[in-house]
Formats: sequence, C-alpha cells, structure tokens
Amino acid sequence: MTADLPSADFEARLANAAALVEAVLDEALAEAPLSGEIVRPDRLLTAMRHGVLAGGKRLRPFLVMESARLFGVPEERSVAAAAALELVHCYSLVHDDLPAMDDDDLRRGRPTVHKAYDEATAILVGDALQTLAFALVAAPGCHPDPAVRCELVLELARASGIGGMAGGQMLDLAAEGRFADGAPLPLADPDIRRLQAMKTGALIRFACLAGALIGGADGQGRAALTGFGETVGLAFQIADDLIDLEGDAESAGKATGKDAARGKATLVSIKGADWARDELTRLLATASGQLAPFGEKAAVLLETARFVAFRSA
Ligand code: IPE
Ligand code: IPE
Ligand code: MG
Ligand code: MG
Ligand code: MG
Repeated sequence: MTADLPSADFEARLANAAALVEAVLDEALAEAPLSGEIVRPDRLLTAMRHGVLAGGKRLRPFLVMESARLFGVPEERSVAAAAALELVHCYSLVHDDLPAMDDDDLRRGRPTVHKAYDEATAILVGDALQTLAFALVAAPGCHPDPAVRCELVLELARASGIGGMAGGQMLDLAAEGRFADGAPLPLADPDIRRLQAMKTGALIRFACLAGALIGGADGQGRAALTGFGETVGLAFQIADDLIDLEGDAESAGKATGKDAARGKATLVSIKGADWARDELTRLLATASGQLAPFGEKAAVLLETARFVAFRSA
C-alpha cells in the first residue's frame, strides 16, 4: 500500500541520523585504549565492530534523537545517548543469536558474531558492548548536566536488565519450554504483551524517554513520550513476528520461519496475521493520540511509528 511507504524525506532523515550515530559508534570502537583502560584486544574489538558497524536500521537511536528534537535539542547533543542505546541493542542481538538462545547464523545479512568468530568471543562482545554503552552515557560528552546523565544511566539500566530486556528474554525462552523444570507455557494475549513489552518494548520505551530527559521535558512530556514508546515497542515486535512468519531471509537479513518452528509464543501465532495487521493499525491510532500534545512537531515521530509497523525488514 503506497500510503504505508515511508516518504523520501523520512528515509533521508533516518539515513542522516544513522550516519551521525555510526560516526560515534566507530569512534567508541576505536583501537586506542581510553584513560582507565589497558589494552583493547584485537579479536574482541574486531568482533565488537562486526556486531555493531554493518547494517541495522538504527531505529532506536533515531527515536532518541527525534524525541529530543521535540524539545529543540539538535541531533549533535543527543547522539551520544542514542549511540549508547544502539550498543545495548547490538549486545542483545549478539546474545540472542547464540546457540544457547535462538541459534541463528545470519544477522543483518551477515554471519552472526559467534559464526564469524566463536561463542566465547560472542559472549564477551555482548559483555563489553553493554559496559561501553554505560561508559558513553556516563561520560560528560553525553549531556552537560550530570544529574541528567545519572537519570539516563538509571533508566537505561532498568530498561536493559532483569525487569526489562534481559528479563523479557528469560520469559521468552521459558515460554518455549527451554528449561528442564518447565514445559512450554501456553501464553495468553496479556502474558505475551508483557513479555514483549520487556524483551523489545523496554529499550524502545527508553529511546523515547531518553529524548525527553535530554530535552528537559516536564512530567507530562515524559509521560506522553513513554506512552508513545510503549506503543511503538509493541508494534515493533508484532511487525518482527509478522516478518518471521511471512518474510524471506534475503530481505529480512536474518532467518525467517523460526518462531513457528520453535512454537514461540507471539501474538501473531495465537491470533493470526490478519488480526496482527489490524492491531498494528489500532496501535498507530493510539500512537497518534499520544503524540497529540506535541502537534505538528511530532510528525516525524508519527511517521517513524508507521515505518516500524509496516516495515519488511
Ligand atoms: C531486531 O531488532 C530484534 C528485535 C528486537 C525484534 P531490529 O529490527 O531493530 O534490528 P536491526 O537493528 O535493524 O538489525
Ligand atoms: C529479540 O527478539 C529481542 C532481543 C534481542 C532483545 P527476536 O529473537 O524475535 O529477534 P530476532 O527475530 O532474532 O531479530
Ligand atoms: Mg529471541
Ligand atoms: Mg532471535
Ligand atoms: Mg524475531
């Protein structure tokens, strides 16, 4: 449907933000050790660069930068926090692909990190990307106000950890019956929504909240953006599950058809693809209402939500 295709303007804006983020990521993954570091082992560094620097839509950083822009913050002043979030996301993908988790060989159209290197290296890549992310947010270049940096650290930690992404990954595997003490759990709609709000939604919610924190938003601004982030997060995973069901590896850049093969609990698997597409349309209406307080200024964020919901990769 043409109405769902992103405008050329939107694509240019996304590409421009991705280039800014990639420059920060490239610098953060330079060879030279920083103050307080001893040496950056070559194998770990090149594997980290493999996991971060080739491909990826860079949607989470885009959401940080566009949310901050609502409060007049130029991209250059939100890009460090945006890049930090992308590092956490890349770490989550490297670990998600490990044989002990989803056992995937292809990511962003290339071999996964444990395929290109080995499992031990991939585990360390995830560890080191995560701490690098927090170093970026805590460093003075992220924001001039130390109190804001501290809030960003706290919120990113909560979004990434036991009650966020990592916890959601745990629930996701448990629902597949992956552990000796548990049979597959037939999850119902609210359980799946909660699981997905954690494994995928938490980082996307953080993206929007981070923009509000960087921009010095008041309570209402924060609440509007976190609500929007939650809606986009749910839409994001429903779209991902649709791609797994209907997409092909060539355009997705990763193997598809794996959720059904594993009996993974998704809203698409329990309610069907047509319901999922209708739900995406409903979520877009919700997102539009959540952005209403920002008026026309939020047009790009709304288009981002549409892009997330109707993407094919
Ligand atoms: C894939 O995320 C993993 C999920 C949380 C569903 P993305 O679709 O954002 O992956 P990249 O970063 O563009 O590769
Ligand atoms: C991954 O969800 C979520 C995280 C990495 C936290 P999926 O397992 O569905 O992501 P893909 O399909 O492998 O990208
Ligand atoms: Mg997974
Ligand atoms: Mg996976
Ligand atoms: Mg998936």
